[in-house]
Amino acid sequence: MCGIVGFSGRREAAGLLVAGLRRLEYRGYDSAGVATVGGGRMALRKTSGRVRVLEQALEAEPAAGPCGVGHTRWATHGPPTDRNAHPHLGGRGGEVAVVHNGVIENHAALRRELEGLGYRFVSQTDSEVVAHLLAQALEALGGADLLGALERVLPRLEGTYGLAAVSPRCPGEVVGARLGSPLVVGVGDGEHFLASDPLAVAPYTANVAYLQDGELVRLTPAGFEIRHRLTGPVTPRVDRIDWKPDAVELGGHAHYMLKEIREQPDVVLDACRGRIARGEATATFGGLNLTHKQLRRVRRIVLAACGTSWHAAMAGEYLIERLAHLPVEVEYAGEFRYRNPPLDAGTLVIVLSQSGETADTLGALRESKRRGQTTLAIVNTVGSTIAREADGGIFLHAGPEVGVASTKAFTAQVTVLTLLALYLGRLGNLSFAEGKGVIDAIDRVPDALGRVLETEPTVEAAAQRVSPARNALYLGRDLHFPVALEGALKLKEISYIHAEGYPAAEMKHGPIALIDPETPCVFVAPRGPLHAKTLSNVEEVRARGGPVAAVGTEGDDELAGLSGIFLPVPDLPEVVQPLLAVVPLQLLAYHAARLRGCDIDKPRNLAKSVTVE
Ligand code: AGP
Repeated sequence: MCGIVGFSGRREAAGLLVAGLRRLEYRGYDSAGVATVGGGRMALRKTSGRVRVLEQALEAEPAAGPCGVGHTRWATHGPPTDRNAHPHLGGRGGEVAVVHNGVIENHAALRRELEGLGYRFVSQTDSEVVAHLLAQALEALGGADLLGALERVLPRLEGTYGLAAVSPRCPGEVVGARLGSPLVVGVGDGEHFLASDPLAVAPYTANVAYLQDGELVRLTPAGFEIRHRLTGPVTPRVDRIDWKPDAVELGGHAHYMLKEIREQPDVVLDACRGRIARGEATATFGGLNLTHKQLRRVRRIVLAACGTSWHAAMAGEYLIERLAHLPVEVEYAGEFRYRNPPLDAGTLVIVLSQSGETADTLGALRESKRRGQTTLAIVNTVGSTIAREADGGIFLHAGPEVGVASTKAFTAQVTVLTLLALYLGRLGNLSFAEGKGVIDAIDRVPDALGRVLETEPTVEAAAQRVSPARNALYLGRDLHFPVALEGALKLKEISYIHAEGYPAAEMKHGPIALIDPETPCVFVAPRGPLHAKTLSNVEEVRARGGPVAAVGTEGDDELAGLSGIFLPVPDLPEVVQPLLAVVPLQLLAYHAARLRGCDIDKPRNLAKSVTVE
């Protein structure tokens, strides 16, 4: 999932395109490039490596012109090389430049056809076919109608795309199209932007128009027009993005991940704001679009998601079953969408996604809607595709999450799922007193999180002992099992230490074979009804010489005594313990990765929003 930008205005484009690419670098960062048009000429600059490498190339050889496109890549077809970097030139004389986010599934057949017509390919990418097809269509239309040419090309493409293109034959024009990959227009005064994510245009305008699937756009300095490839002209809806300007700034923190970990006390407050109905000891949501009557008819909930959002969904399963006694199934979205699981009228499908653009989760949503299911989405990114397509939903209000390794979004997702479980529970058998107990517990979380963040020096010291490891095991019971999974994912993602999360009870059935003095076992074990069981599991690891680290309740001397590393969290009711216990694990992964010299905000091979299957 790449990041693409476009600009048409009176200012020089190159600097603005590069600034936009830097903000989109979380989407892919293995190569980058820009193409600008000015004075009837097109300049192309592209390099493998980070956007800063492209910047150096542009310092050495500037690219002129008040209109252009840019791209930062996450390779799908062809390794990250200068040749495979975007933009790709199309036509025998390089008449057009194209940037693409997505996958053209029929690229091989199109390539053969175009090579047969004498078009020369210089890259191994699927995207280059679009450039040649566009040049071919522009030629056929007499060379001046870039939008018309793009409209001709789209029916030939199978797969997904967010596209943008320029041509020296159509000065001042940027065209684009969307099918499956996000694209938004930034509406300025005498200038217009195109981007994969509003983040890229935030410094210049808060007015954005989201393209829907099947739509094309043409930007000029004076304005923009959108049309749907099947139904013609579209009246654009311009939304206002309500971000605090510094929301995407590092703000003095060493990394976005660390900044976002430290934001979590406020994240919980923001996720709860206006959603707690104390008088009825329940929660309230404005966007579910479901009546109490409809909700009482729900007999089963399916939670579908990917990655960290899937771990949050797992915690949601435990919380909803505990507070609302409703059966919950947690599904990997990529499996759920093709598995054809039985879904009846009483099943509510809820998808979870930070970005709101993850292709597999969007696919699970569309498959459920196609089968007539009522769908909800728990999403962070306002205006994202999943948010717009679900029947109803709950926004996380966590603010933009830039670090590729998700942290605050997980905490916001679990907070929202706790409120949802409370809400559903109070529609059923959860008593006023029990509801009040949950609310009182949630109220104590922000302060308690502040105290957990103060233990960072302890976690940092612990990371010294974990960072040399090649493998690690994360173990937890009940609500702490999903937290163990999430802790393992964080370590894997950013430190590249192989880590697995397991239910602690499951350890004896296989993973125990992995225990040795070099493999840290991290237990997630705040006090609770199953604490004694977990202590036995700790003993089983110690008996085999395995080093034990544990997240436990402050003052739990027994667990501390059994653990080489003890990471304390305040003593709060079990229902909110996952919100506390995950933070030392996020910090442990962060500091282990830092000690290993890893690129924390842009870990290898990953991208923040996975918009291809
Ligand atoms: C988590 O740190 C990863 N970035 C990844 O697993 C992520 O959670 C997954 O791709 C789902 O993303 P989403 O929440 O934006 O849909």
